[in-house]
Parts: sequence; structure tokens; C-alpha cells
Amino acid sequence: MLMRELIEKKCAGGELSESEIQWIIRGYTAGDIPDYQMSAMMMAIFFRGMTREETLYLTMSMMHSGDVVDLSAVNGVTADKHSTGGVGDKTSLALCPMLAAEGIKMAKLSGRGLGHTGGTLDKLESFRGLTTSIPMEKFFREVNEIGFAIAGQTADIVPADKKLYALRDVTGTVPSRPLIVSSIMSKKLASGADVIVLDVKTGSGAFMKTEEEAFRLARDMVEVGRGAGRKMAAIVTDMEQPLGRAVGNALEVKEAIATLKGEERGELLELCLALGSSIMALAGAASDENEARERLLRGIESGAALSKLADYVEANGGDRREVYEPERLPLAPVQLEVKAERGGYVAGIEAEQVGRICLHLGGGRAVLGSGIDHSVGVVLERKRGDAVQSGDTLAVIHARSEAEAREAETMLRSAYSIQDSAPSPRALIRGRV
Ligand code: URA
Repeated sequence: MLMRELIEKKCAGGELSESEIQWIIRGYTAGDIPDYQMSAMMMAIFFRGMTREETLYLTMSMMHSGDVVDLSAVNGVTADKHSTGGVGDKTSLALCPMLAAEGIKMAKLSGRGLGHTGGTLDKLESFRGLTTSIPMEKFFREVNEIGFAIAGQTADIVPADKKLYALRDVTGTVPSRPLIVSSIMSKKLASGADVIVLDVKTGSGAFMKTEEEAFRLARDMVEVGRGAGRKMAAIVTDMEQPLGRAVGNALEVKEAIATLKGEERGELLELCLALGSSIMALAGAASDENEARERLLRGIESGAALSKLADYVEANGGDRREVYEPERLPLAPVQLEVKAERGGYVAGIEAEQVGRICLHLGGGRAVLGSGIDHSVGVVLERKRGDAVQSGDTLAVIHARSEAEAREAETMLRSAYSIQDSAPSPRALIRGRV
């Protein structure tokens, strides 16, 4: 095969065959196809798109470019959840223990990417002494014995995506839907779970700015996952404002703990129940989603879900007392209350700006490998639709110094919009696929 001919075929709107796609991915991963030809192919796909079959072949070829995790050593149905990413998204921290308490085996392998607020691994490392770098045997043992494990990837999962994503990033081809679908789904499929539920975010703080784009992405990913023989569902959720109240590593852990204790019954619980009931129904662990919700809530009331989190923390080098007494978790030296300068209603809180504030305070990573402060961040006391009076606390900033807190305050004021009338309600769960 000649790469030039395949590029020409795609440029002309032709459909690539399974063997052609396999040849391209093998050749590129091995270094036999140069970046300049692969860039041209990515651009051709960007403009011409891919059929369902092509997207599935691309995903499967990428999945097989490296290690594929074999979860057959785990007893029972294994499940995984993926979010396309958003500010304040601490869902896995509460959802995994909730499902583990119901007998679902959650096996989550995460990469450590760049982000405003740190990823799930960073959030978990707010527990002092906890490590997420564990060998695969320990990972499997924890999934079997505790019911869930969340760990950093040690296996060489989807090396094709590492190369391709870096190339897409510098060639303006990241926003191509078949390329996003194959990038996300190849990694999810390689992680081995039987059931996969996706949380596709939409809104100004999300990758997919419009609901239409988010639903199309969700549908395409579900189709590819089913084509690969997995049980799939997706939920499209709002990311116009941060999820829940806390943004920042230890602060988000505290919100997840409060949710598992039944003290916090807001957006985070709503999302965990939606994702969790969908996973339980697909796994055949509940007759329908209503029964699953009831059981997940009972797991919170009985303390079973919280105890699963404590078991996980202890098994990975942390102190389980931090789960039961979260005031032991890292706390920033400065807390600054941001007061409303006028009365009215909160019309919106720009999610990306809150993420930038967290990064600015030291809670995220500006460059790969840099350190992170687990204690800093923002707690949003007022959210979209809430009425406020002048002088009410909008949010509390947790910072390393007074000066950093003051800078964050200015940034936070620009993230909040307050208007005279109540904004129209906006549901967190926008729809299901
Ligand atoms: N996340 C991924 O992993 N890949 C993409 O292409 C986009 C978002």
C-alpha cells in the first residue's frame, strides 16, 4: 500500500477499508509513516469525515496498537465510566464506592493529563500517603476485594493515540468527530470493562459547546462501543457552570465524602445516581433504573458506600480516618469570602474561568510533571438560579496567600453574572443515549 494513494482516496471522499486503516495505524505507530503524511490524512478525515464502519475500524486498530487490559481475573461484571471533562467533575470519587457497595466491579485506569484543576488521580492524592501508581496485580486484587480501584496507567495503553493526539494538537485537527470518538473509545475499550457509561459534557466549559454536537458525539461513541461488543450508554450533562460546589483537589474530595455521607444532596448526587443507575441496569444488577437508584441511596444511608472509599484509601497507603473526618484533609492557610456587590439572581458562573482560577491558585498543572497544591481552590456557595442579596457570600477562595486570594477574587467576580430576574431553569441532565 502507498500512503499517498490512501490520502488521495480520502481527499476524494472515498471510504477506507479495514485493512487500509489497520495498515495506516500500524505503520504510524511503528514510525514507518512520517508525521507529514499522517497530518495530511488527519486533515482529509477532518474535512471528509468517516463512515460508521471506518470509525469502528479506526478505533479497533488504535485499541490494538498497545496493551489491552484483560479483566477476566475479576469476578463479576466489570464497569467503567468516562467523562469528556469539565470543571469540578469529581464524579468518580463518589460513584465508584457507591457502585462497589452494590457489587459492581469498577476498574478505572486514568492517564495524568494537563488540566485546570488536576485529574481524578490528583484529587485522590489529596489523601496523605495515598498512591495511585500500583502494579496491575494489586489493581486487579483491589477490584476483586474492595469492588473498585482507580489507578494510573502502567500498561502501554493505545500508544497510537499518544502520537496521534500530539499531531492533531498541532495541526488543528482535534475537533474532528471520528478522531475524537476513536481517541476516547480506543482507550476505554483497551481498559477492558464489560459495561461503559459515558458522561458527555456540553456548554461553555465543555469540549462540545452545543448540545447538538454533544449528542452526536455521544451517539457515535455508543455505536462504536456496541460495535466492539460492549454494553454502552451515554448521558449528556450540563457544563455551563462547574459541577457541584467545590473546584480544587481536596475540596472536591470533601464534597464527594459529604455526598457519600448523605449530607450533600445536590448536583453531584444527581449525576452519580443517573450514571450509577444506568451502569447497574446495563450490568443486569437491577431490574430497572428506579430500583438501582433506590439501592444506591440505601448504600449511602447505611454507610456502605463511604466504607468502600475508606477501604480503598487504606489499601493504597492513605489514612481511612481522613474519610470519616475530612477536616483532616489538606486545608489552605487563607480562606477569603467573596461577597455579592449587588442583589439579584445568579445568571451564570463561567466554568472555564473558575478552572483558570484554580490553576492560578496552584491547584492544577500548567506544564506536564509540575507539582500541585491539593489544598487550594474555590467553593461556590451560590449557583445559577440562586437569589442573592448585596453582601451575601457568593464563594469562598482557598489560597496559599492573601495576595493570591485577592487576585483570585477579581477573577471570580468576572466569572459570576448577576441579573435582576431569575434565569430560566437549566437541567443538569440534558438527555440520554
Ligand atoms: N479526549 C481524548 O481523549 N481525545 C480526544 O480526541 C478528545 C478528548
